Amino acid sequence: MRIAVYGASGHTGRLILADLRRRGISPLLVGRDADRLRAAATESGLPDAAIHVAQLDDQALAQAFRDVDVVINAVAPFIEFGEPVVRAAIAAGAHYVDISGEQAHIKRVFDTYSEPARQAGVTVVPMVNDGGFLGDLISSLAAARVERPEHVTLAHRITGGTGISRGSGRTAVANADTFVSGGEIYTRDDWRTGTPARTTKVTFPGDSQPSEVVKFALSEVVTVPRHVPADHVEGVADAEIATLFLNITTELAEALPEFPRDDPDSPDRFLVLADVTGSGGTARGYVEGTNTYQFTAIAAAEAAVRLATDGAQPGVLAPSQAFDPADILEALAAHGIRWSVGPTP
Ligand SMILES: NC(=O)c1ccc[n+]([C@@H]2O[C@H](COP(=O)([O-])OP(=O)(O)OC[C@H]3O[C@@H](n4cnc5c(N)ncnc54)[C@H](OP(=O)(O)O)[C@@H]3O)[C@@H](O)[C@H]2O)c1
Repeated sequence: MRIAVYGASGHTGRLILADLRRRGISPLLVGRDADRLRAAATESGLPDAAIHVAQLDDQALAQAFRDVDVVINAVAPFIEFGEPVVRAAIAAGAHYVDISGEQAHIKRVFDTYSEPARQAGVTVVPMVNDGGFLGDLISSLAAARVERPEHVTLAHRITGGTGISRGSGRTAVANADTFVSGGEIYTRDDWRTGTPARTTKVTFPGDSQPSEVVKFALSEVVTVPRHVPADHVEGVADAEIATLFLNITTELAEALPEFPRDDPDSPDRFLVLADVTGSGGTARGYVEGTNTYQFTAIAAAEAAVRLATDGAQPGVLAPSQAFDPADILEALAAHGIRWSVGPTP
């Protein structure tokens, strides 16, 4: 199985390399800087891994991805640098997975590359991470318990940990307009900006009191309406995470650590929740876990291996369209996530 990692020299890129090595796969490292790629290979326990230097140039990238089964894209920010890698993977006939959490990038991948991917016979799955990916999978399982689902609220919360990487900080700055507006909500058969979220408080699992939430540009708002026939799909986040993303500046982003180290005694904890209501009842699904970046790397490697091994229908797909949601969540549960679907409390 031949897997290429673009942006292999970054924080999550290195964690992806380490997870592929754990699976016995020696990936091809692709990026713009040979020294940084070689250092990433060595530090990830893959000193002999193949390296291909390619800038973000369509032809150079397509050449790098020749004979590759799946490309994992770990560049940052995706809104600035993600697109050439998608185009080149399709041109090279390779499946594609990325770890983006950027609503605008993910929407653009669906809008622009669905037809080219179908024609090339390859599967493109953006957003494989600890956020939107889990939100999409758990929404599909919660919605399956509700006859005629009408409304889906997705909510994210992250607590504790050592904070975000410089790459995530740069990503927040590059998407500042989307974050400030709260992004798009799906309502009345289309994605719309400017529509307020209906949900202002969520009682997260384990809490006795509701928390304030604010409209937030969650990326799975782009994907859930593609497989859940609801009239309204909105994203909100715990007011504290939203404040972090809204207040980031270039200076603050550049001061963040390039490779933040998780504190094993007090890792970050993420929680992704989907509340589905409809005329036929209600359901809640949620997924919780720790170590955002480490989990994202494991999920991206798992998705890439599944595409290389089992394939999926060609085109740009939501996670729930590319993979069996319960089966992939169960496989990932072996890496520390916990998931649950049941009646709304
Ligand atoms: N839940 C989520 O939504 C979630 C979770 C995890 C990660 N993410 C996202 O994943 C992305 C990666 O995060 P990270 O912390 O791993 O970032 P990072 O450490 O900054 O890594 C970024 C990678 O992109 C490469 N790159 C940047 N600019 C480039 C350019 N102009 N041309 C070619 N390559 C370029 C870098 O190459 P060099 O090494 O040569 O600089 C590096 O390999 C971010 O957007 C982050 O927000 C999202």
